Amino acid sequence: MARTQVPLPLTYRLLNHGPATLVSTRDGDRANVMAAQWVMPVDFDPPKLAVVLDRTTYTRKLIDASGVLAIQIPERAQAQLTQEVGSTSGAERDKLAAIETFPGDVLDVPLVAGCLAWLECRVAHSPALDEVARELDLFVVDVVAASADDRYWRGKGIALDTVQTIHHLGGGRYVLSGESVEARR
Ligand SMILES: Cc1cc2nc3c(=O)[nH]c(=O)nc-3n(C[C@H](O)[C@H](O)[C@H](O)COP(=O)(O)O)c2cc1C
Repeated sequence: MARTQVPLPLTYRLLNHGPATLVSTRDGDRANVMAAQWVMPVDFDPPKLAVVLDRTTYTRKLIDASGVLAIQIPERAQAQLTQEVGSTSGAERDKLAAIETFPGDVLDVPLVAGCLAWLECRVAHSPALDEVARELDLFVVDVVAASADDRYWRGKGIALDTVQTIHHLGGGRYVLSGESVEARR
Protein backbone atom coordinates (compact mmCIF):
# COMPACT_ATOMS: atom_id res chain seq x y z
CA MET A 1 0.00 0.00 0.00
CA ALA A 2 1.39 3.38 -1.02
CA ARG A 3 0.54 6.32 1.19
CA THR A 4 0.78 10.09 0.78
CA GLN A 5 1.80 12.19 3.76
CA VAL A 6 -0.96 14.67 4.52
CA PRO A 7 0.34 18.07 5.67
CA LEU A 8 -0.80 18.49 9.30
CA PRO A 9 -2.61 21.80 8.63
CA LEU A 10 -4.76 19.94 6.06
CA THR A 11 -5.72 16.99 8.27
CA TYR A 12 -9.03 18.65 9.21
CA ARG A 13 -10.04 18.21 5.57
CA LEU A 14 -10.16 14.46 6.07
CA LEU A 15 -12.89 14.92 8.65
CA ASN A 16 -14.48 18.12 7.57
CA HIS A 17 -17.48 16.93 5.62
CA GLY A 18 -20.17 17.20 8.26
CA PRO A 19 -22.81 19.60 6.98
CA ALA A 20 -21.84 23.22 6.66
CA THR A 21 -24.01 25.38 8.91
CA LEU A 22 -25.14 28.96 9.16
CA VAL A 23 -24.81 30.61 12.57
CA SER A 24 -27.12 33.55 13.17
CA THR A 25 -27.62 35.71 16.21
CA ARG A 26 -29.09 38.94 17.49
CA ASP A 27 -28.08 41.35 20.22
CA GLY A 28 -30.67 44.11 20.51
CA ASP A 29 -30.95 45.78 17.13
CA ARG A 30 -27.76 44.15 15.75
CA ALA A 31 -28.20 40.82 13.97
CA ASN A 32 -25.86 38.77 11.82
CA VAL A 33 -25.13 35.47 10.13
CA MET A 34 -21.90 33.62 9.27
CA ALA A 35 -20.98 30.19 7.95
CA ALA A 36 -19.59 27.61 10.38
CA GLN A 37 -18.27 24.19 9.53
CA TRP A 38 -16.80 23.46 12.94
CA VAL A 39 -19.99 22.42 14.67
CA MET A 40 -20.43 18.96 16.18
CA PRO A 41 -22.83 17.22 18.54
CA VAL A 42 -21.30 16.35 21.91
CA ASP A 43 -24.42 15.08 23.71
CA PHE A 44 -27.93 14.13 22.64
CA ASP A 45 -30.17 14.28 25.71
CA PRO A 46 -30.18 17.09 26.60
CA PRO A 47 -28.67 18.05 23.25
CA LYS A 48 -25.38 19.93 23.26
CA LEU A 49 -23.12 21.06 20.45
CA ALA A 50 -19.51 22.20 20.34
CA VAL A 51 -18.99 25.22 18.08
CA VAL A 52 -15.81 27.08 17.18
CA LEU A 53 -16.42 30.77 16.54
CA ASP A 54 -13.35 32.79 15.78
CA ARG A 55 -12.84 35.74 18.11
CA THR A 56 -12.40 38.11 15.14
CA THR A 57 -15.90 37.51 13.76
CA TYR A 58 -18.74 39.98 14.22
CA THR A 59 -21.07 37.05 14.97
CA ARG A 60 -18.86 36.14 17.93
CA LYS A 61 -19.11 39.69 19.27
CA LEU A 62 -22.91 39.53 19.18
CA ILE A 63 -23.06 36.03 20.71
CA ASP A 64 -20.67 37.06 23.50
CA ALA A 65 -23.15 39.84 24.30
CA SER A 66 -26.47 38.00 23.83
CA GLY A 67 -25.64 34.39 24.75
CA VAL A 68 -27.98 33.07 22.05
CA LEU A 69 -27.58 31.78 18.51
CA ALA A 70 -29.23 29.65 15.87
CA ILE A 71 -27.43 26.94 13.94
CA GLN A 72 -29.11 26.03 10.70
CA ILE A 73 -28.45 23.52 7.99
CA PRO A 74 -28.43 25.03 4.50
CA GLU A 75 -29.22 22.98 1.42
CA ARG A 76 -27.66 22.75 -2.01
CA ALA A 77 -29.33 25.89 -3.39
CA GLN A 78 -27.74 27.86 -0.54
CA ALA A 79 -24.10 26.98 -1.26
CA GLN A 80 -23.39 30.41 -2.72
CA LEU A 81 -25.14 32.17 0.14
CA THR A 82 -23.13 30.08 2.61
CA GLN A 83 -19.88 31.02 0.90
CA GLU A 84 -20.84 34.69 0.86
CA VAL A 85 -21.82 34.98 4.52
CA GLY A 86 -18.68 32.97 5.29
CA SER A 87 -16.34 35.32 3.49
CA THR A 88 -17.72 38.78 4.31
CA SER A 89 -18.25 40.39 7.69
CA GLY A 90 -21.34 41.88 9.26
CA ALA A 91 -19.00 44.45 10.77
CA GLU A 92 -18.76 45.91 7.24
CA ARG A 93 -22.20 45.30 5.75
CA ASP A 94 -25.61 44.14 6.87
CA LYS A 95 -25.57 40.62 5.47
CA LEU A 96 -29.10 39.91 6.67
CA ALA A 97 -30.57 42.83 4.70
CA ALA A 98 -30.63 40.65 1.58
CA ILE A 99 -31.53 37.35 3.27
CA GLU A 100 -35.05 36.26 4.18
CA THR A 101 -35.37 35.35 7.85
CA PHE A 102 -38.14 34.53 10.31
CA PRO A 103 -38.14 34.71 14.12
CA GLY A 104 -36.99 31.87 16.36
CA ASP A 105 -39.71 29.87 18.15
CA VAL A 106 -38.11 30.28 21.57
CA LEU A 107 -35.15 32.64 21.31
CA ASP A 108 -34.79 36.12 19.85
CA VAL A 109 -32.67 34.99 16.93
CA PRO A 110 -33.25 35.34 13.17
CA LEU A 111 -33.67 32.01 11.36
CA VAL A 112 -32.60 31.85 7.71
CA ALA A 113 -35.45 30.84 5.39
CA GLY A 114 -34.83 28.00 2.94
CA CYS A 115 -32.66 25.93 5.27
CA LEU A 116 -33.66 22.37 6.00
CA ALA A 117 -33.41 22.59 9.78
CA TRP A 118 -32.94 25.17 12.53
CA LEU A 119 -31.48 24.69 16.02
CA GLU A 120 -31.99 27.48 18.55
CA CYS A 121 -29.20 27.45 21.11
CA ARG A 122 -28.11 29.06 24.36
CA VAL A 123 -24.43 29.35 25.25
CA ALA A 124 -23.68 26.86 28.05
CA HIS A 125 -19.91 27.20 28.17
CA SER A 126 -18.11 30.12 26.57
CA PRO A 127 -14.45 30.80 25.82
CA ALA A 128 -14.54 33.32 28.65
CA LEU A 129 -14.87 30.48 31.17
CA ASP A 130 -11.65 28.55 30.75
CA GLU A 131 -8.25 28.70 29.16
CA VAL A 132 -8.68 25.79 26.74
CA ALA A 133 -11.98 27.11 25.42
CA ARG A 134 -10.47 30.60 25.14
CA GLU A 135 -7.51 29.38 23.16
CA LEU A 136 -9.73 27.35 20.79
CA ASP A 137 -12.62 29.89 20.54
CA LEU A 138 -14.74 26.94 21.64
CA PHE A 139 -18.35 27.19 22.77
CA VAL A 140 -20.59 24.46 24.11
CA VAL A 141 -24.22 25.33 23.47
CA ASP A 142 -27.53 23.82 24.63
CA VAL A 143 -30.08 23.22 21.89
CA VAL A 144 -33.34 24.59 23.35
CA ALA A 145 -35.58 24.31 20.26
CA ALA A 146 -35.27 22.58 16.91
CA SER A 147 -37.38 22.38 13.79
CA ALA A 148 -37.00 20.98 10.30
CA ASP A 149 -38.71 21.59 6.97
CA ASP A 150 -41.69 19.17 6.85
CA ARG A 151 -40.76 18.09 3.35
CA TYR A 152 -37.50 16.58 4.54
CA TRP A 153 -38.06 15.29 8.09
CA ARG A 154 -39.01 11.60 8.32
CA GLY A 155 -39.74 10.95 12.00
CA LYS A 156 -36.19 10.13 13.04
CA GLY A 157 -34.03 12.14 10.72
CA ILE A 158 -33.61 14.11 7.54
CA ALA A 159 -34.49 12.15 4.41
CA LEU A 160 -31.33 12.83 2.46
CA ASP A 161 -32.85 11.27 -0.64
CA THR A 162 -35.16 14.29 -0.84
CA VAL A 163 -32.67 17.10 -0.16
CA GLN A 164 -28.92 17.56 -0.31
CA THR A 165 -26.78 19.10 2.40
CA ILE A 166 -23.52 20.85 1.55
CA HIS A 167 -20.23 19.88 3.14
CA HIS A 168 -17.31 22.27 3.01
CA LEU A 169 -14.07 20.62 2.00
CA GLY A 170 -12.15 23.88 2.37
CA GLY A 171 -11.24 26.68 0.00
CA GLY A 172 -14.82 27.30 -1.18
CA ARG A 173 -15.30 23.73 -2.42
CA TYR A 174 -18.27 21.72 -1.23
CA VAL A 175 -19.37 18.13 -1.62
CA LEU A 176 -23.07 17.24 -1.65
CA SER A 177 -24.69 14.55 0.48
CA GLY A 178 -25.51 11.47 -1.53
CA GLU A 179 -26.62 7.89 -1.32
CA SER A 180 -27.07 6.33 2.11
CA VAL A 181 -26.54 2.72 3.16
CA GLU A 182 -28.07 0.91 6.10
CA ALA A 183 -25.84 -1.41 8.09
CA ARG A 184 -27.33 -4.49 9.82
CA ARG A 185 -27.68 -4.15 13.59
C1 LIG B 1 -18.06 27.05 4.59
C2 LIG B 1 -17.44 27.91 5.64
C3 LIG B 1 -17.30 27.42 6.93
C4 LIG B 1 -16.76 28.22 7.94
N1 LIG B 1 -16.63 27.71 9.21
C5 LIG B 1 -16.22 28.50 10.22
C6 LIG B 1 -16.20 28.00 11.55
O1 LIG B 1 -16.56 26.88 11.84
N2 LIG B 1 -15.77 28.84 12.53
C7 LIG B 1 -15.37 30.14 12.27
O2 LIG B 1 -15.00 30.86 13.20
N3 LIG B 1 -15.39 30.63 11.01
C8 LIG B 1 -15.83 29.85 9.99
N4 LIG B 1 -15.90 30.35 8.72
C9 LIG B 1 -15.52 31.74 8.47
C10 LIG B 1 -16.61 32.74 8.87
O3 LIG B 1 -17.86 32.36 8.35
C11 LIG B 1 -16.16 34.13 8.34
O4 LIG B 1 -15.05 34.56 9.10
C12 LIG B 1 -17.24 35.15 8.33
O5 LIG B 1 -16.85 36.16 7.41
C13 LIG B 1 -17.50 35.80 9.68
O6 LIG B 1 -18.54 36.71 9.50
P1 LIG B 1 -18.90 37.84 10.56
O7 LIG B 1 -17.67 38.68 10.80
O8 LIG B 1 -20.02 38.60 9.90
O9 LIG B 1 -19.34 37.16 11.80
C14 LIG B 1 -16.38 29.56 7.66
C15 LIG B 1 -16.50 30.05 6.35
C16 LIG B 1 -17.02 29.24 5.35
C17 LIG B 1 -17.16 29.77 3.97
